[in-house]
Amino acid sequence: MATTTDLRARIVGHDRTVPLLDGTTVPYLNLDNAASTPALQDVMDAVAAFLPFYSSVHRGAGFKSRLSTNAYDYAHRVVAAFVGADPDRNTVIFGKNTTEAVNKLSYRLPLGPDAVVLTTLLEHHSNDLPWRRAARVVHVGATPEGRLDEDDFDRQLARYGSRVRLVAVSGASNVSGFVQPIHRLARKTHAVGAKILADVAQLAPHRPVDVRPDDDPEHLDFVVLSAHKMYAPFGTGVLVGPRDVFLQSAPEYQGGGTVDAVTLDEVTWADAPDREEAGSPNVVGAIALAAAANALMDAGMDAIADHEDELVAHALGRLARVPGIRIFGETDPRRSREKVGVIPFNLGDLPHALVASILGYEGGIGVRHGCFCAHPYVVHLLGLSPRATAQWRAQMARGDKSNMPGLVRASFGCYNTTGDVDRLAEALERIARGDYRGKYRQLPSGEFVPEGHEDDFTSYFALAAQHAPQGPGGVRPCGI
Ligand SMILES: Cc1ncc(COP(=O)(O)O)c(C=O)c1O
Repeated sequence: MATTTDLRARIVGHDRTVPLLDGTTVPYLNLDNAASTPALQDVMDAVAAFLPFYSSVHRGAGFKSRLSTNAYDYAHRVVAAFVGADPDRNTVIFGKNTTEAVNKLSYRLPLGPDAVVLTTLLEHHSNDLPWRRAARVVHVGATPEGRLDEDDFDRQLARYGSRVRLVAVSGASNVSGFVQPIHRLARKTHAVGAKILADVAQLAPHRPVDVRPDDDPEHLDFVVLSAHKMYAPFGTGVLVGPRDVFLQSAPEYQGGGTVDAVTLDEVTWADAPDREEAGSPNVVGAIALAAAANALMDAGMDAIADHEDELVAHALGRLARVPGIRIFGETDPRRSREKVGVIPFNLGDLPHALVASILGYEGGIGVRHGCFCAHPYVVHLLGLSPRATAQWRAQMARGDKSNMPGLVRASFGCYNTTGDVDRLAEALERIARGDYRGKYRQLPSGEFVPEGHEDDFTSYFALAAQHAPQGPGGVRPCGI
């Protein structure tokens, strides 16, 4: 069985060096895994082995079509196994990402006119905005440090009772990493006759996900996830849920692949998942996701969780020693198990965007900064007043993002090590001392770039330029 130590060597590009502002190169340190993970070699191998046989699925009679159909259909079963779903009662629907999966459910779940969807302040916008279109949305609050306020959850559930049709909650926050008690919430949700959706986009790469049997009061009705956060960045997302929910009505996207029979007046919709996967599917993405799920199951999700727990505990202890740092969310290493490897922080009075840029340009370290598609939650963590929030929004509306509040976020994958954490901490200590060489200027997008520097990507990667001219440096970075 593979171990978490083996996983690092199996990360595509783990040994790639990148240029720094001073002209030297260093191995790239990716601490932006909560946004997207790099690919696993297992995934690349499966894709490379499959592509010579790639062909159309479902309607082709040739050998390669039969093989591709078999592999594509089987990928659904692998993903069902990954989340513990019974493939006969549940359907696994492939789409392009978590956002699309939640949107699909918001169109497909019968909610009724008076329906309430209970969600939380901790959600990514993708598990919030689609519900605002479909129903009355009530947000359960958070404690000052950013945990779900479960007393408030109980209050809201009691207040809206049988009007609550769905509880939409993340398995783990993409900002603070806090792991939500999804099975306990499921029990409470089912007690009022509602269903629960767990957005496990952040949980699935780090912890075992088990939807549990339907007759278990703590089972999860729906789960959604993204392959690009699970070492398979080939454009696949997943919605898993009870087959009968989808068989009740017509799909929101209609066309090829969704039907059994069509006359000029009538349509017989196909079984699930076909009726939910309109058009030609992303077969390669499905193979890639299944290969990643297999690799993670081989390594053992419990072993991955243990390894990442050590990383988080080490990081909370080590980063706390960086002068001027303020870590948001959980700061006690002894409570590391309560979160996945996502650590949000700010450094003194330095803008979050500047810290992230210096880490990138001078440390070869990739992190993310800003509000992470969870504006209300970040505003809550920062403790911003309604007045400050209104000012910032007005400024944004004028196209000026320079004062956008936010945080820096370091996020770990299963292949990161305590050495990676130390490298981040040392880079932050240098920044805290003012020990960096670039003169950074802020762009209207809010990003900081070093004066006089032009990225040159061409010796690293460039698409052939014979048909369209490249911008300076190859492909221009966003915001410039
Ligand atoms: C918790 C959570 N939900 C949903 C999403 C949206 O995922 P995607 O961009 O793959 O649709 C993200 C992405 O960061 C996330 O972290």
